[in-house]
Amino acid sequence: MASSSASSSLMAILLVLVLLMGSSSAQLSADFYSKTCPKVLGTVKSVVESAVSKEKRMGASLLRLHFHDCFVNGCDGSILLDDTSSFTGEKTARPNNNSIRGYNVIDNIKSNVEKECPGVVSCADIVAIAARDSVVSLGGPSWDVKLGRRDSKTASLSDANSGVLPPATSSLSDLTNKFQAKGLSTKDMVALSGSHTIGQARCVVFRTRVHNDTDIDASFAKTRQGSCPLTPGSGDDNLAPLDLQTPTAFDNNYYKNVISQKGLLHSDQQLYSGGSTDSLVESYSKDSKTFNSDFAAAMVKMGDISPLTGSSGEIRKNCRKVNS
Ligand code: HEM
Ligand SMILES: *[C@@H]1O[C@H](CO)[C@@H](O)[C@H](O)[C@H]1NC(C)=O
Ligand SMILES: *[C@@H]1O[C@H](CO)[C@@H](O)[C@H](O)[C@H]1NC(C)=O
Repeated sequence: MASSSASSSLMAILLVLVLLMGSSSAQLSADFYSKTCPKVLGTVKSVVESAVSKEKRMGASLLRLHFHDCFVNGCDGSILLDDTSSFTGEKTARPNNNSIRGYNVIDNIKSNVEKECPGVVSCADIVAIAARDSVVSLGGPSWDVKLGRRDSKTASLSDANSGVLPPATSSLSDLTNKFQAKGLSTKDMVALSGSHTIGQARCVVFRTRVHNDTDIDASFAKTRQGSCPLTPGSGDDNLAPLDLQTPTAFDNNYYKNVISQKGLLHSDQQLYSGGSTDSLVESYSKDSKTFNSDFAAAMVKMGDISPLTGSSGEIRKNCRKVNS
């Protein structure tokens, strides 16, 4: 009797331990590499800082790279894979082709990190750290990046084209639904959209807005039409800043822009269009502290989308290729 109850409580303890271990291996943590690659944070930071000091826009591009990685099958580095004979990857998908930048910076970080701790740090984690360091480099908030993601062994063009990434033509409800599908709230969506305080967009994504939308400041529309002709195909790649005031500073001007109907994208203006997100836009426009802290919290949530952990995936040696 006594020995069987002792052994069944032993079994219960073992079961709890196994469950704890199982769940802890599926969790990301800020100190994941503290023993195995203690220098990784410093290495990523120094490469990002030098890339951003050469070209400020690169900070924007690296932030967006993390978003586009995470929304397509989770933050698994899949966006970094070049096409192979067995799959066509995400790089030429509609939201990414001729648009996503920063692959070379990630390669440069990866080769430095591989020298220090070969085969330890995933490309997906490098992208997440680089996004944070980019925001900090441009004057935005910092946060602890949770780590321990592993890299996918495949990538899918059709998944990247499936509509999980919202286009610039999205309505407010499209935006809300697409973020909700990734476990992100409307508040997260509004805070993360503040990313459009940095970086550039191509005429092809804002043509209809500056020529045809009615909820746009007339003189702003005229200025942007100047480098974005109505004729389809003409000037498609001409760039304009997403934030007309301070395009290389991570601040809360994005919200001030949309309040004055100077959002560059149709989707930007949707956040201040008489709907449920107007009040949040107003509060972020007045309170950069709250914006910064909500943005940082939302970045942590976005970085938590379906990571590969434990023995899933792999630690790629080269971010562009699956290990052979
Ligand atoms: C809310 C839905 C969103 C839509 C519809 C959207 C759409 C776009 C579009 C169309 C561009 C211009 C791309 C081009 O012309 O090549 C762009 C740029 C950018 N997006 Fe978003 N985006 C959204 C959310 C986000 C989020 C969540 C982030 C980051 C967390 C982000 C970060 C950026 C940055 C930084 C740029 C500028 C990139 C550069 O200059 O290289 N966006 N976005
Ligand atoms: C991607 O862009 C290139 C031009 O740089 C173009 O030739 C190619 O057709 C585009 N691919 C897709 C899938 O749209
Ligand atoms: C804008 O609207 C006009 C008239 O409805 C239409 O002919 C034109 O194709 C539209 N332009 C764009 C860029 O959608």
